[in-house]
Amino acid sequence: MSAADRTERPAWHPAWLPEAAFGPLGARRVLVAPGPDAGPVGRTVVDELRAATAQHGGTLTVLDPPAAPSPADVRAHDLVLVVGPADAPAGPEAFDHRREDGTTVVVAGGPAGLLYGMHAVVRDGERAFGADHGPRHHRPVAPVRMLDHWDNVDVHPVMGQVERGYAGGSLFYADGRVRDDLTRVGAYARLLGSIGVNAVALNNVNVHATEARLLTDGLGDVARLAAAFRPHGVRAYLSVSFASPMTLGGLPTADPLDADVQRWWAQAADRVWAAVPDFGGFLVKADSEGQPGPFAYGRDHADGANLLARAVAPHGGTVFWRAFVYDHHQDWRDRRTDRARAAHDHFTPLDGRFDANVVLQVKHGPLDFQTREPVSPVLASMPRTRVAVELQVTQEYTGQQQHVCYLGPWWSEILRFGLAEDGTRTVAQIVSGLPGSPASGPPDADPLPAAGVVAVSNVGDDVFWTGHPLAQANLYAFGRLAWDPDADPVALLDEWVDLTFPGADPRVRATLHALMDDSWRTYEAYTAPLGVGFMVDPLRGHYGPNVDGYEYSRWGTYHFADRDGIGVDRTRATGTGFTGQYPAPWRDLYEDVATCPDELLLFFHHVPWEHRLHSGTTVVQHVYDSRADAVDVVERLRQHWADAADVFPADWHARVGERLDEQLRSAVEWRDQVRTYVYRKSGVPDAQGRPIY
Ligand code: GCU
Repeated sequence: MSAADRTERPAWHPAWLPEAAFGPLGARRVLVAPGPDAGPVGRTVVDELRAATAQHGGTLTVLDPPAAPSPADVRAHDLVLVVGPADAPAGPEAFDHRREDGTTVVVAGGPAGLLYGMHAVVRDGERAFGADHGPRHHRPVAPVRMLDHWDNVDVHPVMGQVERGYAGGSLFYADGRVRDDLTRVGAYARLLGSIGVNAVALNNVNVHATEARLLTDGLGDVARLAAAFRPHGVRAYLSVSFASPMTLGGLPTADPLDADVQRWWAQAADRVWAAVPDFGGFLVKADSEGQPGPFAYGRDHADGANLLARAVAPHGGTVFWRAFVYDHHQDWRDRRTDRARAAHDHFTPLDGRFDANVVLQVKHGPLDFQTREPVSPVLASMPRTRVAVELQVTQEYTGQQQHVCYLGPWWSEILRFGLAEDGTRTVAQIVSGLPGSPASGPPDADPLPAAGVVAVSNVGDDVFWTGHPLAQANLYAFGRLAWDPDADPVALLDEWVDLTFPGADPRVRATLHALMDDSWRTYEAYTAPLGVGFMVDPLRGHYGPNVDGYEYSRWGTYHFADRDGIGVDRTRATGTGFTGQYPAPWRDLYEDVATCPDELLLFFHHVPWEHRLHSGTTVVQHVYDSRADAVDVVERLRQHWADAADVFPADWHARVGERLDEQLRSAVEWRDQVRTYVYRKSGVPDAQGRPIY
């Protein structure tokens, strides 16, 4: 048995950072100058380079004490990574990258930029050491790139340990407490650092009793978790309960205007930052789905958010306040109340009232992370507020990590959607504080408010991190798109494949593209049609079809199908008026059934079953055809995967294969239920005469 065979394999998959991915870099002569303020992140870079060069036969020179390398030093090396000489790029996360006289040079604005620059070299592989090129500038578009964990410390009786988690238990918590061994949390933090994620919320936005105590008795453990993330440039945040002054502090009220409540929060914040000096701040779900909030005291969300913001401000902290506020006790008979309107109705009157260290965190769509929704108009309606867009990497409504559903193309559409300024200012620009066009930018003295991109994480203690191994690509793509929203999501798949399977047979890449490139559209094609949303099974945690599952419920998510037609009339002319929350041109484009895009038709309009789509077919025939086609696609993909058994590691092949079997079973169920439902309601037969039950 060789030494390598005897080495114990870690209990988790290396994801996109296997040792072999560091081969091209590790075989070089590398010089690193992490600068006088290298700190833990600079040390991580040195450690990574030391391990890679030791493993792959290169050499490492560390300039310590810090000094700028001399030209002779530079020429003697293949790769030079330095922080901060005079021409360094602005911002600690930025880096420039050039190839000059056969040396690859990365110049970073700070230790985080050095880390990101090093990983850019890893991603480029041998290409990083190819032809000379001039400086390329890299800086993140969004200042905040955050993952929210919906992890509970205790196993919740309904939601389990990770709410909407599809990859096993929590990485952070086990047996009702923070794990003793945080080695794997460190490995996770390393993955996040490599894709530029710089913030993480450690617990569920629904803050239950045990989790609330992280803010007080649990601070020692929070400090341990923060320490696992720190070396990778990731700051820790906590979800907190608005009722904490009562439940933890014993006060009779949590009223944001009460002086004792204000004092309690200020002291709580003092204790947090004493334990974790670089703590990020708080995340709050208030007055939403049963969570406590300022409404109980007749106060609004600006009062609530500013209460916490003032407590954390002396420490440089930020409050992420969620805009996911709606009536979850709606009467289904009430056709005028529209959940899609709720966030805009609640929050836009408050624009300008939030303190500068409040970020309003807005779900990307007006409903709830559906497979297809329009972009939330709230993102364009609060020009004097810092807004972040919230995505869902965990696949609650997109196949629950049982189905292949690569979400990069969906997030790319969202981030690049021209929502404001007549369609010229994208969501990515709005959340990053960038003007739509240079001409429309603010005077220099008055910067646009900036926040960033947030997402609900999809990892757990599963050996592959994400249950479905291909869901690793969603985590990867989230980080990369948050850094660069203009990146091509299909090209990001190439990056992910090359890192995950370095030097693999070209069939690996081809097979994964075949499975993943269009997988989101395939998933859409067998689930709820034309943007109508939901139709998922409430009794199975939103998995699988149940067309009327939410139809007569209190949750405000209806499709209103009857014998004549289907869809939600959200027009100003005859419906809920939701279209009026959009700026031009969207308010009119969505209002008119003639210009509303097919894929959102039933989100905005109630139409007859035989309404003709822009595609030329009718709604009912579209349902019949697209479902049948999508199931055919899944069948072919399953075969494709079976044929590629020889080029994938056996554990990958087996796990993905099991999931594809389930995806096919579920897609058939979706197809048959939705088609049969549509036939039974409409009485219109399938022109192709395929079976309906
Ligand atoms: C969805 C999800 C919940 C979650 C909520 C939220 O409704 O099903 O589990 O708590 O979103 O975003 O807060």
